[in-house]
Amino acid sequence: MWWLWLLILLVVLLVVVIYDLTQRQHAILRNFPLIGHLRYLIELMGPELRQYVVADNDEEKPFSRDERRWVYATAKKENSYFGFGSDDDLTQPNRVVFRHTPFPLAEPIPATAPIPCTKILGKWRERPGAFRPASAVNLSGMSFGSLSGAAIQALNRGAAIDGCLHNTGEGGLSQHHLHGGDLIFQFGTGYFGCRDHTGLFSSDVLVETISNLPVRAIEIKLSQGAKPGVGGMLPAAKVTKEIAVARNVPQGHDVVSPSAHSAFSDIPTLIEFVEHVADVTGMPVGIKSAVGQVDFWVRLARHMARTGKGPDFINVDGGEGGTGAGPLVFADHVALPFWEAFSLVHKAFADVGLTNELIFAGAGRLGLPTQAAMAMAMGVDMVNVGREAMLAIGCVQAQKCHTGHCPTGVATQSKWLERGLDPTDKAVRLANYMSGLRYELLRLSYACGVRHPALLGPAEVSVRWVDGRYRSLHDHYGVDSSVTHSAERVNNIKEALVLP
Ligand SMILES: Cc1cc2nc3c(=O)[nH]c(=O)nc-3n(C[C@H](O)[C@H](O)[C@H](O)COP(=O)(O)O)c2cc1C
Repeated sequence: MWWLWLLILLVVLLVVVIYDLTQRQHAILRNFPLIGHLRYLIELMGPELRQYVVADNDEEKPFSRDERRWVYATAKKENSYFGFGSDDDLTQPNRVVFRHTPFPLAEPIPATAPIPCTKILGKWRERPGAFRPASAVNLSGMSFGSLSGAAIQALNRGAAIDGCLHNTGEGGLSQHHLHGGDLIFQFGTGYFGCRDHTGLFSSDVLVETISNLPVRAIEIKLSQGAKPGVGGMLPAAKVTKEIAVARNVPQGHDVVSPSAHSAFSDIPTLIEFVEHVADVTGMPVGIKSAVGQVDFWVRLARHMARTGKGPDFINVDGGEGGTGAGPLVFADHVALPFWEAFSLVHKAFADVGLTNELIFAGAGRLGLPTQAAMAMAMGVDMVNVGREAMLAIGCVQAQKCHTGHCPTGVATQSKWLERGLDPTDKAVRLANYMSGLRYELLRLSYACGVRHPALLGPAEVSVRWVDGRYRSLHDHYGVDSSVTHSAERVNNIKEALVLP
C-alpha cells in the first residue's frame, strides 16, 4: 500500500506546484513553486525560533530571557537565583547601581514581604473611602476583552491571596473580576460600565455598576503609553455576550472607544469631572496618562494648587507600556519613556508643593526588582505591573495579543485556548510573584540599610554616565531629592511601616 500513499503525495505536490505557478498574489511562490512555502513557514516560526534558539539572555524585548526566567521562577516558588555571576557588561552607560552598606539590616523578611503604600489614598481631598493600600505593588489595568475571563479571574483570585489591588482596565466590570480581590474600577473614553445607551458618561450607571462590590477607588484613563491619543475598536465578532454585559454595549456590533473624552475637554472641566466622580462614589479618584506635551502637566499642577481640587492619584504610564492591540507608530514613537515622563510630572507637582498630597503611581516595565526600586526611590508611591503579571500567570511573550490566538489562553477570547489556563493554579503563581517582587525590593533596601524602597535616596542609587562617572539616580533624571526625601515624606514612609 505504500505506493498508494506515495502516489497521493506526488499528486498533492503537483497540485501545489500548479497552484503556485498560476497564482498571482505571491511572487516568491510563482518563481519558486513548492520550496517558496518554506519561507512562509520559517517566517511564521521566526519569533519562536528567535526566542528559544537564537536570542541571548538579555537580548529579547520587551522582557529578556533573564527577566522572564526570574518572573517564572518567582511565580512558581522555584529557584530564582542565577549562577556564575553577571553576564551583563557592567560598564555600559545608563547602568544603575545600588550602593549597599557594609552594615545591612539583618532582620528577617516575612514571607508575604509587606510593603504598604507610603500614603493614604484619598486623604488630601478627604474622600469618605480614603484608605492606605496594603501593597505598594499592584495590578495595572488590563481589560476583560483584551485578556480572557480565565486570566482576569486568575489575577483577581491572586490579588485576593496577596492583598494587592486589581485594576479592572477600561473594559468594564465582569463576573471574572469578582473572586475576592479588591478593585480599582477604571474607565476610559468608551465609558464601559458607566455609559448610557448613547455612549455618554452616566454617574447613575457608574454607581449601579460598583455598588456593593469591592471597588476601592476609581481611575479615569486619559491615555495609555502604548497607544496615547488614539481610540480603539473591538470588532463585532469579539463582542461576546459576557463582554457586551460587562461593557454595557449591544452584542454583535463593533465597539468603538473614541480618541477623546466627551465628559470633559480641558483642565478645569477635567478637575470638575474628577470631583463629580468622587462625590457620587465617595471614593478616591485618580487619572492615568502617558506623557506627551509637558505644558499640560504644568498647568494641571498649577490649577490643582490654586483650587485645592483634583485627583487623589496620578498614574504615569511610560511609552514602553503594553497593550492588547495598538498601531506600531504609537507604540514606538508616541509618548515619553517612563523615566523621563515621571520626572517631568513629579517636577510639575514639586514646583507647586503638592507632592506630599498626591499619590504617584507608575507603570512601564516596572515589575522587576531593579526598576521597581528605582521608581520608588524617585518618588513613585505605587508601582503597577501589567505584562509581568501576565508572565506570572503563564504568558510566554508570544506577542499575539492582537490576533486573539494567544497560545497560553491569557490574551484571547477563544474558549479552546482559554481552557488551558487554570485560574486557581495561576492565582497562586500571581500571588507568589507579587510577594516575591516585594521580597526582592526589601532585600535590596535592607542591603542598602533602609527599611522601605522609597527610602532609597541619592546616596543609595546611582547611574553610570557615558564618561564612566557615577551620578545619583535623582540627578540623572532631574528629580529633586530634597522633595522625594523631604522630612515629611520620610515621616510618611516611617508611619506606613509603623516604625518607632
Ligand atoms: C493586554 C493588555 C491590556 C491592557 N489594557 C489596558 C487597559 O484596559 N487600560 C489601561 O489603562 N492600560 C491597559 N494596558 C496597559 C497596562 O495597564 C500598563 O499600563 C502597561 O502595560 C505598562 O505596564 P507593564 O510594562 O507592567 O505592562 C494593557 C496592557 C496590556 C499588555
